Amino acid sequence: MIGIFDSGAGGLSVLREILKAMPRGEYVYFSDNAFCPYGEKTPEFIQDRARAITDILRGEGAEIIVVACNTATAAAISTLRAEYPIPFIGMEPAVKPAALGTRSGVIGVLATAGTLKGSKYLKTKGNWGEGCKIVEHVGKGFVELVENLELTGEHAEQVVRESLQPLLDEGADTIVLGCTHYPFLLDTMKRIAPEGIRFIDPAPAVTRRLMDVMRQEGIKQEGGLSVRLLSSGSPDSLEKLYQSVI
Ligand code: DGL
Repeated sequence: MIGIFDSGAGGLSVLREILKAMPRGEYVYFSDNAFCPYGEKTPEFIQDRARAITDILRGEGAEIIVVACNTATAAAISTLRAEYPIPFIGMEPAVKPAALGTRSGVIGVLATAGTLKGSKYLKTKGNWGEGCKIVEHVGKGFVELVENLELTGEHAEQVVRESLQPLLDEGADTIVLGCTHYPFLLDTMKRIAPEGIRFIDPAPAVTRRLMDVMRQEGIKQEGGLSVRLLSSGSPDSLEKLYQSVI
């Protein structure tokens, strides 16, 4: 059984990719929406939540856990790996494919404040960002739009424009989606960005990594598909988003 968690419904953008690749077996998804957003919370707070959620997912039978949250990966994945005897798959900031693919030499990164400060992101940026200009912006209000299922429309466009436009104005032709909530705003982003701008969602790469680790560890997804959705707050938006996107 695969366990997946995020601060909210954003991790469904990762679950969606995983289900395309492995449409069998048991999944349990936990949305920590009573404590969402994580973006500005301290690493210690997020580590405590990550432990509590890991205990719940393991109690449900998870043999491997996908931390489908860039912010929680930055704050807590090393703690989880040190404290639990099961494998954890984290989110990778997609700076490498962006650096390899940019034509203008300018990469835009949209993420939470916690992710942009995290050592994993800083290291990836150091390894791959050389020779490129990297411009960053917190997707201010994006998580709230997704949790409120306001994915399109005038208000969503106004909120998204405020964080996306500065990156476009700097000449970015490639935008890294560094938070798992953001892919759900892709239609709105594409209305704002001129044609030809590439958006990179790391979910397919994370899915490949998950499958590799499952092979190494002998973890199998077999039988009919079952997906259970759990949450620390109201389950409404999680269930609705699941129905509409998966
Ligand atoms: N979905 C999250 C991420 O990937 C968390 C956003 C938040 O809770 O601030 O970073």
